[in-house]
Amino acid sequence: MKELKIELAQKLLLALKDFAGEKNLELSISIDDIMIETPPKPELGDVAFPMFPFARLLRMGPPQIAASMVSRLQEMGVDAEQAGPYVNARLDRSHAAGQTITRILQEGDTYGSNANYHGEKVMIEFSSPNTNKPLHLGHLRNNALGESVARVLKANGAQVRKVNLVNDRGVHICKSMLAYKELGDGDSPGKQGVKSDHFVGDYYVKYNEMASRDPDAEKRAQAMLNAWEAGDGETVDLWKTMNSWALEGLKETYERTGIHFDDIYYESNTYKLGREHVLKGLEDGVFFRDEEGTVWIDLEDIKLDKKVLLRKDGTSLYMTQDIGTAVSRHEDWPFERLIYVVAYEQNYHFRVLFHILKKLGFDWADKLYHLSYGMVNLPDGKMKSREGTVVDADKLLDELRDLALQEMTEKGRDQKIDDPQAVAEQVALGAIHYYLLQGTPSKDMVFNPAESLSFNGNTGPYLQYMGARISSMFRKYGKDLPSPESLDWKLLKEDEEWELVKLLASYPQAVEAAGTDYNPAHIASHLYELGKAFSRFYHEHPVLNCPDASLRDLRLYLAWAVKRVLMHGFHLINMPFLESM
Ligand code: ARG
Repeated sequence: MKELKIELAQKLLLALKDFAGEKNLELSISIDDIMIETPPKPELGDVAFPMFPFARLLRMGPPQIAASMVSRLQEMGVDAEQAGPYVNARLDRSHAAGQTITRILQEGDTYGSNANYHGEKVMIEFSSPNTNKPLHLGHLRNNALGESVARVLKANGAQVRKVNLVNDRGVHICKSMLAYKELGDGDSPGKQGVKSDHFVGDYYVKYNEMASRDPDAEKRAQAMLNAWEAGDGETVDLWKTMNSWALEGLKETYERTGIHFDDIYYESNTYKLGREHVLKGLEDGVFFRDEEGTVWIDLEDIKLDKKVLLRKDGTSLYMTQDIGTAVSRHEDWPFERLIYVVAYEQNYHFRVLFHILKKLGFDWADKLYHLSYGMVNLPDGKMKSREGTVVDADKLLDELRDLALQEMTEKGRDQKIDDPQAVAEQVALGAIHYYLLQGTPSKDMVFNPAESLSFNGNTGPYLQYMGARISSMFRKYGKDLPSPESLDWKLLKEDEEWELVKLLASYPQAVEAAGTDYNPAHIASHLYELGKAFSRFYHEHPVLNCPDASLRDLRLYLAWAVKRVLMHGFHLINMPFLESM
């Protein structure tokens, strides 16, 4: 769309220069000096050019300039009109349709991508689970956002490295270990037939039950942490076993949801490095030690209280570990930007972390960015776990899949597809990823499972269905489309066709906007507009049954282009494209 509007601006530039030349005036302006606006109402045209910027140079009032430009543009065959000091113009629809479809054909599956980031090295951390619990609904939002922003940045020309940070040390990890040691009796996920991260999580629950009766449990967990830190063989072995169970289970959920990491960082590997840097900062006078031996940072300069960085027994805290993690990441892969996808509950943590790294003198500290997102809850009642707050991710995915399958069975669609169970799984993923990404990341949201699965409305399955419908149309057609040069785009005269062309042509701008704002919602809403426009078009006009074969082929081209854009966009929001459903 932008390109087509610039073509019009180019014509206006010619007209302006021409006009100035006739008046013997020097008009040294370039295409960048022409402001391209959108008229307040679509009936007024596709583009509005204000004439104010040229008034002084041309020594004329903007309305007079506008009038003269309109007649010149009309002579060049442009549909233009004056509106006071503005020149309103319309794009040539058939030209725009031809240009757009040809461009999509040429660019193929890269249509929508751009090189705006010029290969900038962006590291993005997301998910960041703890090894004492399985993933919950909040992680699903985190994963959806992290994976999608990573894909979007790549589509905007960045070199992206996706990393996870596993919290695998600390007293909470020792709690599930302690419960297993005291109650486990050689039990294993295999024996129980339980997904292995749930197996570990169950021991965390058991620890809490135990601790409510046994006031000594906390002390034993702390002693276990000390033993772990001292490298005690038996403790370390147990830790390794339980960690590998937890990680194996988490990996299954990532694979199931199309999430992939290039690298995984473990807090157990970076906390020592963090401590070293804190001790060095202490030497350099960046931090101070109190009489008891605790190391602090004074945050007065950013109007915050002081904060502990090393406990008096020398042990690290969350902040200390994060200092180490950041340093080792920059050593491993000197990023030009590091994005942390973490909920807004940790706004304070990241503000302080970035400040500390700057004070420690790391020149890359200003390249860190906290992509802070809001909470997600279920509507009251259904599907909440017994504890009332966390909703297990695996269970939620299973329930969504079952609901999707049930809906397919009720409508008899399960008879028409090979593997209804697999399709239901893909629909569930589309439903949840779309739903979680369609809102503003920073805002809290309610995830409504039934609503997310609805086949009409602003949902993933609605769009997946639109894609499948187009695919089925091409299966029926069963041939290759004729070469586009042989087509007369002037035959596309309907408003519904024009709406499609405009949305196809402006799709790359949605990808750009998502890349600048780190917000995949731009893509989700553009896809929804495209889906709705396709549905109106399909409803109003015959495609396969179009009596005129040339018009039929043109319409098929439009449908083909819609499918291309849907596929590109689906990939960016990690929503499966289904050929049939
Ligand atoms: N594991 C942490 C938690 O559950 C989140 C870690 C976020 N990332 C970071 N670099 N601090 O709260």
